[in-house]
Amino acid sequence: MFHIDDAEINHIRENADIVEIVSSYIPLTQKGKNFFGVCPFHNDHAPSMSVSSEKGIFKCFSCGATGNVFKFVSDFENISFVEAVQKIAEKVGITLKSQIVTKKAKKNSLEYQIMDFSSLFFQNNLMTEKGLTALNYLKSRALDEDTIKEFQIGLSFSSNSLYELLKTKKYENKTLVNLGLINQNGLNFHDIFVHRIMFPIHNINGETVGFTGRIYQKDSTPPKYLNSKESYIFKKGNILFNFHRAKDAIRIAKKVILVEGNMDAIRMYSVGIKNTIALMGTSLTSYQIQELKKLRVPIVLMFDNDSAGNIATYQNGNLLEKEGMNVSVVRLSGEKDPDDYIIKNGVEKIQNNIKNAISFLEFKLSYLKQNKNLQDSEDLANYIKEVLENMKDTTDPILKEITLKKLSEDYGVSLVTLKEELEKIRKNEQIEVKITPKEESQNKNAKSADSIHHILYFMMNDPKYILMYKSKLGYFKDANYRGLANEILAYYEIHKTINLADFLTYAESSKLKEEIYKITTSIKDENINEQIMEEYIVAVRKKMKEQEIKELKEQQKQELDENRKLNIAMRIQALKKEV
Ligand code: UTP
Ligand code: MN
Repeated sequence: MFHIDDAEINHIRENADIVEIVSSYIPLTQKGKNFFGVCPFHNDHAPSMSVSSEKGIFKCFSCGATGNVFKFVSDFENISFVEAVQKIAEKVGITLKSQIVTKKAKKNSLEYQIMDFSSLFFQNNLMTEKGLTALNYLKSRALDEDTIKEFQIGLSFSSNSLYELLKTKKYENKTLVNLGLINQNGLNFHDIFVHRIMFPIHNINGETVGFTGRIYQKDSTPPKYLNSKESYIFKKGNILFNFHRAKDAIRIAKKVILVEGNMDAIRMYSVGIKNTIALMGTSLTSYQIQELKKLRVPIVLMFDNDSAGNIATYQNGNLLEKEGMNVSVVRLSGEKDPDDYIIKNGVEKIQNNIKNAISFLEFKLSYLKQNKNLQDSEDLANYIKEVLENMKDTTDPILKEITLKKLSEDYGVSLVTLKEELEKIRKNEQIEVKITPKEESQNKNAKSADSIHHILYFMMNDPKYILMYKSKLGYFKDANYRGLANEILAYYEIHKTINLADFLTYAESSKLKEEIYKITTSIKDENINEQIMEEYIVAVRKKMKEQEIKELKEQQKQELDENRKLNIAMRIQALKKEV
């Protein structure tokens, strides 16, 4: 994947002023040596991101996001690191020596080729005489030819037409079966999709990875939609339908609309609401949530107007909110789904609905009301308790205040009581967290991890901390941290120097990439000097010795030989003195 060599990348980075590049994306103002702006990587209004020309890095003091100029551009534009390097090279007028980069070796290119070829076949079928019924069906659903072309909608015929065609291209049967297009039955092979309207499914990069086929004749056999089988290029949980087409529109609209069905996304897109993607009827996976989070825009849930859609809104909304996303909700009334709604009421009406989307909290207030008789005091008490519990993760103080006031006015409970109750719910949690011994030891571990994070962070910044680590600590007990320290040492061996901006470039190709970014983003205190480093080293050494004492005590218990027992006791004594 990583084709440009480090020296070349570092050369580009040195010639690209991070302040200049970042300010082409977000406004920056100078304060002293540094520049400050509103961080685009979390929901914020205050200028908590600093950008330093000298260090070549940006850092947000609120969310912790940090990195060099390539990281900023790749995260902001949602492109790969290599693409960001190319982009910046272009900006600063450096021609890349490494040719491979522009050609970008494509993985699985044969598979994508087969998929594209099949898609063309299906599209062609739809336009033949035998495709007329299907075409009429699509027209009866108010899909015009432009939309049919844009979404590459096609048609599968009877039994073996795709297989026969692919056979002439000499593709291996195994590949076709693995791709989920063809079924094998003993020695026979046949098409999986028969008499269905075919919608290609693309991954985030726009490559065709699968199909979903809809029945269109009265006597067809369910299911309504049949999807290609999962393959190594098609994982349903990784797909968000229409994502690749919607990306630009999402950035421009600064908002993404999530709907349940492919047809809803197609309809929305075709009437000009292009920042829409569909879930394909499933619940959000953590992969999809991370992809949505990367967009760094608020999300609007507009699911079907039935109880399943209501439940899906509640469940998916909670998942997204837990990840810190800004979630709002549209509940349509009358028609079954956004597609039907637009056909019946037009674009303007649905635009209005989107404009008036309610906050997820407000949605929850009415959602939790269902099946409760709020005249009944027990039901009412339960309802209020559930609402307060649902509010404990809400970070917006204004929203919180408004909600509590509304509850108070609607149900005649005093505002003071509500606030006290909410506080109790929060405190209860805190107390629980404090008293369980497991949490406490986790807390201690967290502290020691914090020291290790700082040490590693310092080492990535300046060779003198690498030398301190080598002479005063030498290793970490934890294999991951030790691995990272070794990578830093190896990097230093090769380059004879280190700075964070260049090390982060190297991090992109490292196995420990995640680990490295976890550490750089967890550092809130930028202060670096030898004394602070010394303090962290002392803390880690102490922790390591305590750990050793604990292990020795275990050994001592199990040791039967009196002499050796004594020996262990002496070692424990010595260690205790050092601590
Ligand atoms: P819907 O039944 O809401 O589909 O299912 P829809 O988008 O409104 O489709 P039309 O308007 O009837 O053509 C939502 C999604 O659930 C998946 C599909 O991805 C669909 O878009 N689904 C539905 C299946 O995978 N199989 C099915 O049999 C039905
Ligand atoms: Mn529908």
